[in-house]
Amino acid sequence: MIGLIQHVLLHLLDDSGVVGARAEVLRRVGLPEDTHFRLDTDYDDAQAEALLDAACAVLQITREQAFAAYARAFLADTRQRFPAFYAMSADSRAFLARQAAIHNVMASGLRNPDRRRQINDKFQITALDDGDLRVHYNSPRRWCGLYLALAHEVAQLYGDRLEVRVAQCRQRGDAQCVFHLHWPERSADAVPDAAAAPPSGDTP
Ligand code: HEM
Repeated sequence: MIGLIQHVLLHLLDDSGVVGARAEVLRRVGLPEDTHFRLDTDYDDAQAEALLDAACAVLQITREQAFAAYARAFLADTRQRFPAFYAMSADSRAFLARQAAIHNVMASGLRNPDRRRQINDKFQITALDDGDLRVHYNSPRRWCGLYLALAHEVAQLYGDRLEVRVAQCRQRGDAQCVFHLHWPERSADAVPDAAAAPPSGDTP
């Protein structure tokens, strides 16, 4: 997994108020205390999963609580780091429609084409005729809780009311996760953002 995710997680541990949380999590995962994750580097997926589990154990929180805290930290970080991704979207629908494309931009710097493809294949976003979005999420990670937390955080950032229906979920035995995103206060004939829901692989 690209190091941005792990990087933000370590900062979340620093800001958690639990003394020594970062060092303890790294120790549990078998990493040196001075470990830093690069944003342009792909790291072991199992290690990212282990970091999340260790963070939950050290902070004594559930995965869902970790995802909620993580989503806040992630938006704070990426708004500073990649302001253009936010500036180019007029509302949360436009931003969430671009999310897979943003991932693809992040993956485009990786040398390994198989890893690029794996990242590109994780999300497919379709704009429906009524303006809703349908999101297919298929990843060995099963971090659908992270998807939901981030989607709601994005909606809150833009001041939008977002409803998400989980139509399918791997955690309950389905082959993939499918989320249906609906903005109840958005009129059905609103003009969609010009770049909404570009096909996977496009730049946002
Ligand atoms: C500026 C905004 C964003 C950036 C730069 C970004 C970047 C990334 C990167 C680099 C990864 C690791 C990909 C990998 O190596 O597999 C990732 C994972 C993920 N992102 Fe984003 N992301 C952004 C916004 C979002 C939003 C808004 C959502 C959800 C609504 C989201 C949901 C996820 C999920 C669920 C994963 C875990 C995927 C998995 O491995 O299963 N991201 N993101």
